[in-house]
Amino acid sequence: MTARNDSDSIEAARQRLGKRLVILAHHYMSDAVARHADYTGDSLELSRRIPDLDAEYIVFCGVFFMAETAAILAKPGQKVFIPEMNSRCVMSDMAPAWLARNVLDVLAAGGLHVTPLTYVNSSAAVKALVGERGGSVCTSANAKVMLEWALAQGPHTLFLPDVRLGLNSADWVGLPKELRHILDIREHGKAIMLEKARQAQLLLWPGQCVIHSRFKPESIRKARAESPGCKVVVHPECHPNTVALADACGSTSFIIKYVAEAPEGSVIYVGTEWNLVNRLAGQYKGVKDVRPLLYSTCSNMEKVTEPNLACLLENLDSSPCVEVDEALIPPARMALTRMLEVCAGPASRHA
Ligand code: 13P
Ligand code: SF4
Repeated sequence: MTARNDSDSIEAARQRLGKRLVILAHHYMSDAVARHADYTGDSLELSRRIPDLDAEYIVFCGVFFMAETAAILAKPGQKVFIPEMNSRCVMSDMAPAWLARNVLDVLAAGGLHVTPLTYVNSSAAVKALVGERGGSVCTSANAKVMLEWALAQGPHTLFLPDVRLGLNSADWVGLPKELRHILDIREHGKAIMLEKARQAQLLLWPGQCVIHSRFKPESIRKARAESPGCKVVVHPECHPNTVALADACGSTSFIIKYVAEAPEGSVIYVGTEWNLVNRLAGQYKGVKDVRPLLYSTCSNMEKVTEPNLACLLENLDSSPCVEVDEALIPPARMALTRMLEVCAGPASRHA
């Protein structure tokens, strides 16, 4: 008996289902998974694709909030699947909807008119809450534009859950440091210092990505000492002090473009999840030297594998799809649609 070949089984399912199936993959997927995708992209590009897809089955290779976002934007009758339901973004779990609601209620009771802006790395329940309260969503590719939008809606903006992306975006829009305040969300929101919040234009939720927190200014200094003349590009989930020392900063698609546009012979250190850096290193081998700023992997992204993608596709009709509570869909979709409308043009870039 021959061992089952996952790659063949995935391709057989793709042949069998034809246009009824679309596979999307985030740039952090391993090569073994990404090579089966119809579309790869950053979270903004993948969200933008959903409203135009007609396939009955959308398989999202990424972390859970990404598949949930696809399910919110999908048409009636379309089913969204993820090869591993337990592939959670740790940062998105740092802002549970009940706590975000408490915090917004405490701020409202204190007389603050707050427009919430959630990073797409958040649950459907948080997106729905934000939609209900007149807010929107952003991704790492459009955070600057969306923060400008949110700041223009009223006196205060709450950015959640990523404090680093919030602070980096505040730098990009030129918001003075004294107009920023990181909220104390302990005690179910009761620890919030209302007076400090009142003085700030930008309120920040204290969440962060542990994978990107590992990239420190020292990593950049070390890279520059090792390879004078090298370039450094990082993701905006990195600490602002790290971003300040990099040559460029942007979403995963921005990073791919930055490496593509670098002259031949460049040495480029990349501060983001290792699977993407490894792919770029292989792609440009012998032409450009692409190196990880540090080895850092997202263990949740890695839960999506070629074997569990094959297993899902073999059993699609009996596999659970990603379900979003009916009541959450309209407000969550409203929040996402606001973002897609505000950013209808090309994605913004940071350098
Ligand atoms: P992108 O917005 O670049 O796709 O990044 C998403 C993410 O989760 C990065 O950690
Ligand atoms: Fe979430 Fe960080 Fe993983 Fe991105 S890299 S999915 S932000 S935990």
